[in-house]
Amino acid sequence: MIGFIVRKVKGILLARHISGASKYIIRGNSHFFESFRLTVIKPVQDKIYLKVGDDCILDCKVLFESGTGEVIIGNRCYIGTSSIISRNKIEFGNDVMVAMGSVFYDHDSHSINYLNREDDITRQLEDHRSGKFFIENKSWNNVTSSPIKIGNNAWIGINCIILKGVTIGEGAIIGAGSVVTRDIPAWTVAGGNPAKVIKEIPDERRRK
Ligand SMILES: CC(C)(COP(=O)(O)OP(=O)(O)OC[C@H]1O[C@@H](n2cnc3c(N)ncnc32)[C@H](O)[C@@H]1OP(=O)(O)O)[C@@H](O)C(=O)NCCC(=O)NCCS
Repeated sequence: MIGFIVRKVKGILLARHISGASKYIIRGNSHFFESFRLTVIKPVQDKIYLKVGDDCILDCKVLFESGTGEVIIGNRCYIGTSSIISRNKIEFGNDVMVAMGSVFYDHDSHSINYLNREDDITRQLEDHRSGKFFIENKSWNNVTSSPIKIGNNAWIGINCIILKGVTIGEGAIIGAGSVVTRDIPAWTVAGGNPAKVIKEIPDERRRK
């Protein structure tokens, strides 16, 4: 099976396609562009972080900032130069299109309580100064996360942000530059910040 060149830099796993094999990825016969990148900070031995089905084209960056997280991509998906950042779970169905510049983020990265956040920068500096990756000893205890799900046949436009806990329904379209903070119903067009439904897709244009 064609796999990935995997190398470790300061304990961080970096995987790029093309030859070699990675036990962190399961994939079908999908195509990975040269710029595709998988990064796992603090990889857990034998954990599968990324599962990709058949006939996808992937030009994205997939980042796991701690040992946790999971990204599942179905069949026949196209994901352009977007970023998928997980420490919970991000799932794409089949026949999903994602334009360039979008970001899927299944956690908040920091606590919304300042008292839980006040040491974050100091820790980053300590890690950096001791030659580690700058968030290697980050505390994730008070960081909220929730899974993201993108339904079959959905289309995410250019420069969108999809935040934690969001489900985008089957066949939904997210307009360019939208920030999606809440679920979007199936077969609707949504847009804006925060994204709201703009219109419904007529029955005859839906996948039967
Ligand atoms: C979402 C989209 C496909 C909808 O196109 P459309 O059906 O022709 O929509 P319209 O232009 O008729 O707009 C309908 C309404 O939605 C609004 N709207 C459209 N796109 C919007 C967006 N991205 N964010 C917020 N509102 C948007 C329009 O202002 C309009 O509002 P109004 O009725 O109050 O005037 C299109 O606007 C879009 O975002 N295209 C970019 C797709 C993209 O990113 N492609 C990259 C390559 S994959």
